[in-house]
Amino acid sequence: MNSFKKTLGILSLSALLIACNNTSKPTDQADMEINNLISLPDKTAFQATIDGKKTDLYILTNKNNMQVAITNYGGRIVSLLVPDHDKMIDVSIGFDNLKSYKDESEPYFGALIGRFGNRIANGKFSLNNKEYSLFINNGKNALHGGKKSFRSVVWDAKQVQDNVLELVYLSKDMEEGYPGNLSVKVVYTLTDENELTIDYEAITDKRTVLNLTNHAYFNLNGVGSSDILGHELMLNADNFTPVDSTLIPTGKIISVKNTPFDFTKLTPIGARIDAKDEQIKFGGGYDHNFVLNPNPTKGMNLAAKVVADKSNIVMEVFTEEPGVQFYTGNFMDSSHTIKGGKKDVKRTAFCLETQHFPDSPNQPSFPSTVLEVGKQYKTRTIYKFSLK
Ligand code: GLA
Repeated sequence: MNSFKKTLGILSLSALLIACNNTSKPTDQADMEINNLISLPDKTAFQATIDGKKTDLYILTNKNNMQVAITNYGGRIVSLLVPDHDKMIDVSIGFDNLKSYKDESEPYFGALIGRFGNRIANGKFSLNNKEYSLFINNGKNALHGGKKSFRSVVWDAKQVQDNVLELVYLSKDMEEGYPGNLSVKVVYTLTDENELTIDYEAITDKRTVLNLTNHAYFNLNGVGSSDILGHELMLNADNFTPVDSTLIPTGKIISVKNTPFDFTKLTPIGARIDAKDEQIKFGGGYDHNFVLNPNPTKGMNLAAKVVADKSNIVMEVFTEEPGVQFYTGNFMDSSHTIKGGKKDVKRTAFCLETQHFPDSPNQPSFPSTVLEVGKQYKTRTIYKFSLK
């Protein structure tokens, strides 16, 4: 009897093993689709001294076990662990070490962008009856603040609470060609409502232009989970700013109606991303500024909502900015090894960079990006996570 039971036991164990073996392929595939990175990078891989300042990795937590890892090197969001029903998912693309972030070719992963988000035509603008010249780093244009830009400076960091990180940086007069000593403070707060709030503040001692943003790259299925084309997106924008072939706005503001740019209702990102459309061609996909419909009531404006296709995660973006750059990682080309040893394959992430419109200093009809002496620059953006 005993040996019969034993045999049965061995048989059922082998049956289980065979069953596991048989299902091993689909499980592996599923793992690739939902890349379940549940741990944060090693803090020590971010500890160094750069430009005489210490860098580190700071961890914000909330009561739902959500965790956000931010380094003061470039003020970058490194990891964003968000709860799904039964597990945590890292939805933010980045590296697991400082060294990779120092590579100039990295595409601004999670970085604070300044002084000016997106492009300025020919790297020139006029202000105070003077022409200012910026470093040209994108074809004939200036992109995302210049050669070093805020993504590669070390911010003075202070974690004031478990869920609050303050970052401060003084950008000297004429740094990267921009006038004025600019004193910038960015505060990241992780709330118990699973919101990552980013508060930007700045003052200057000379009239200048300013357009700060964050360049987080998201994949709500998890870092490294193939492309984001199945995610559904809603953009609260009836209009967008079309661009020329160098991605500089033409100055027009046009309706999204009957174009691949209509995301006024939840639509898969990939539904029209390869449409025969001149604007899509110029961007190599989506790489455009959307003009947010103004908020009828005062306060934060819902800019976007994104619903994952393979996880249950939903992200909403709220902002006080007039625009959002929707970028679908068209330039990603597997040349970087991201967290979990994955490659940054084309369109493995999307960005929703809240901002004033690109090239505003040269576009008189766009909302002004001029910061006056004595005035405080103050703007807030929230990335809020929930479940379907
Ligand atoms: C922005 C730009 C894109 C690209 C990325 C960074 O979103 O609009 O064209 O340069 O930054 O790779």
